[in-house]
This record gives sequence, C-alpha cells and structure tokens, in this order.
Amino acid sequence: MRISIEQAVQALKEGNVVVFPTETVYGLGALATSVSAVDRIYQVKQRPRDNPLICHFYDSAQIERYGIHIPPLAQVLMDACAPGPISFLLNLPLGSPLTIASGGRSTVLCRIPNHAVALQLLRAVDVPVAAPSANTSGRMSGTRLDMIEADLGDRVAGYLDGGDSVIGVESTIIDVRENDRITILRPGIIGKTELLPIVQTAYEQGFIEVVPEIIEGRSEVTTPGSRYAHYAPITKLRSGNHAYAEPAEAYLATDEWMLERGIHPGVMPAQVQGVWYVSLGSVKDLSGVARRLYYALYQLDQLQVSEACFIDENWGETSIARALRDRIAKILAC
Ligand code: TXA
Ligand code: MG
Repeated sequence: MRISIEQAVQALKEGNVVVFPTETVYGLGALATSVSAVDRIYQVKQRPRDNPLICHFYDSAQIERYGIHIPPLAQVLMDACAPGPISFLLNLPLGSPLTIASGGRSTVLCRIPNHAVALQLLRAVDVPVAAPSANTSGRMSGTRLDMIEADLGDRVAGYLDGGDSVIGVESTIIDVRENDRITILRPGIIGKTELLPIVQTAYEQGFIEVVPEIIEGRSEVTTPGSRYAHYAPITKLRSGNHAYAEPAEAYLATDEWMLERGIHPGVMPAQVQGVWYVSLGSVKDLSGVARRLYYALYQLDQLQVSEACFIDENWGETSIARALRDRIAKILAC
C-alpha cells in the first residue's frame, strides 16, 4: 500500500515498519528507540539478529542530542558530506536508547540521507529511524518501489514513494571514532579520492590537528552484515569474460558489449534469437550503472531463466568503480 508522508509518520510513531526513500537505496524503517519496532524490522527482513542497523537522523545536532560525541574529524566530514551517501561509525554512550538498533554494541552507525522526502519524514518523527536496505535479507537492495513491493508485499505497513533511488548503491561506511584515521568499512560513491581533499583543507584551516590516514578496511571485521550472503538475485549468476562469452540463456552486460554484438540495449530486457540481454548501462556512465545495477538483477529474475552470465568489465579505479566492483563481487559470490 502506498502511503503519504503523514501516514508514514503515523505508522512509525505507532511502532510499525515502513519503506521510505533515500538517495542511495530505499530503507526499511522503524523507530530506533523501540524494542518492538526494531524487532519488527528483523522479522520483516528475516535478518540475522546479530546484524545491527544504521540509525537515520535529519542533522548532526539531532545526533548530538542523543549523547553521541562527534569528534572533530567526524564533524569536518559530516559538515562536508552530510546530508549525503555516507554513514559514520561513532561511539555510543552506555545506556543509550539507540543500543537497541545497534544490537547491544558500544558503537552506532549514523546517517543523514540526502533526500527531501526522507528528511521531511525524519523531522516529523523526530526520533532516529533504524533502517536497513529495503529487501529480504540476502537479496539485492531495493532501488525502485515495484521491485520492493514484489519482494516485501504486505509485510510492511506501507510504502512511501520518493522516486527511483538516484545513487543505487548503499552508502559508504566510515569508522571515524579516532581523529588520526578514517577506515572505509564499505566502499560507496564517496571514497578516498573524495575524502582526501576535505581533510587536507580542514587541516590547512586548522579544524583538525593532523591529516588522518585513510584506510580501505576489511568490512568483515567491523560491519557484521558483510559476513552474510548479500545482494543476490534468485537466478543463478556466473561471471563471463568480456571477449569470450560462453553461451548462456541470459546476459547481464554493458551497452558497449551489446552493441559490439549487434544487440540494441534498452531499459527493458531484449530477446534476440531466444537469448535475453539485460542492460547495465554504459561503462562511460558508471553513475548510470550504479543506478541500474540492482534493478537489472530484478529484471533478470523476472525472465525466469535457470542461469545467466554477468559480463565483467574493467570498471576502473574511481570510487564509484570500486563500489561497483565490491557489490558485483558479492553478487557473484552467492
Ligand atoms: O545506503 C544505506 O546505507 C542504506 C540506506 C537505507 O540508508 N542502508 C543500508 O543498511 O545499506 P544495511 O543494513 O543494508 O547495511 C548496513 C551495514 C550492515 O553491514 C551492518 O552490519 C552495518 O552496516 N552496521 C550497522 N550498525 C553497525 C554498528 N554499530 N557497527 C558495525 N556495523 C554496523
Ligand atoms: Mg542491506
């Protein structure tokens, strides 16, 4: 059921779970301070209980009102990047009501989404909203309402429409508990390349005392979610070489690969001589590929073929390319 912002606010305040938009992927939200509401997220998502939830805020002052200390380096990055596609791992004071969403940990993952509807919702509720991506645990994150409705059905109180997710891959996760280092726990469109000039400028202007080291960390260590099978379509997917693609019932590939084979790429899968082609977009527009990726996997599932081939590309070394490579590796590992 599609609901209005007012209905979503009401549903959240009553302790229910709603699907709401963010700029990265849709979220499956509930009050972060309510044991029963958070419990409902785990039930709806069928998520392992030891996997904590990101808390969504409308600004950094709200984060501080929950007694969470924002160290100088974290503040600099928040000022520069939030609202935006990045989540900040911070220390959580003992006895905080957000311990519920954090699964009893002494840390909390804070995110201020850059989406007008999300911010309006968060302001109106005025309690942090815990939200994992809107998908059944183990499936790919939802970036468009039709795919999310097909996955979650009437397991949620309602769906708040905010258009297709403009980024399409989940937020960057950084550990910023120390002032001398930033550890990237999950790559996203904001990466080392984007963080470096921010901290250099802040150092030159005297906001921070050292230029922190930026470490591309091993997410399995600190973000429990990375241990689980993730981002998987139902269709069995194998990796294919760009040049020598083996025969398959369906291919997921870039526009360039399709054009080389005389296939016209489009927003809908194309069937040519009994073989399906699902477009990921152009390698020249990786933002477009990120935006399409999870929806392309959903389109693949709709075809009901027994297996498909993902044509690997050289995505390059930009932050978005690294984020895509990380997600694609996880998709293919399933
Ligand atoms: O873009 C996003 O970040 C989206 C939107 C909805 O905000 N959310 C999202 O949530 O991707 P989720 O639950 O699918 O991924 C969050 C990851 C999980 O791997 C989880 O284990 C980790 O963050 N995480 C959450 N709280 C944590 C904490 N306190 N310490 C360590 N890891 C944490
Ligand atoms: Mg997720």
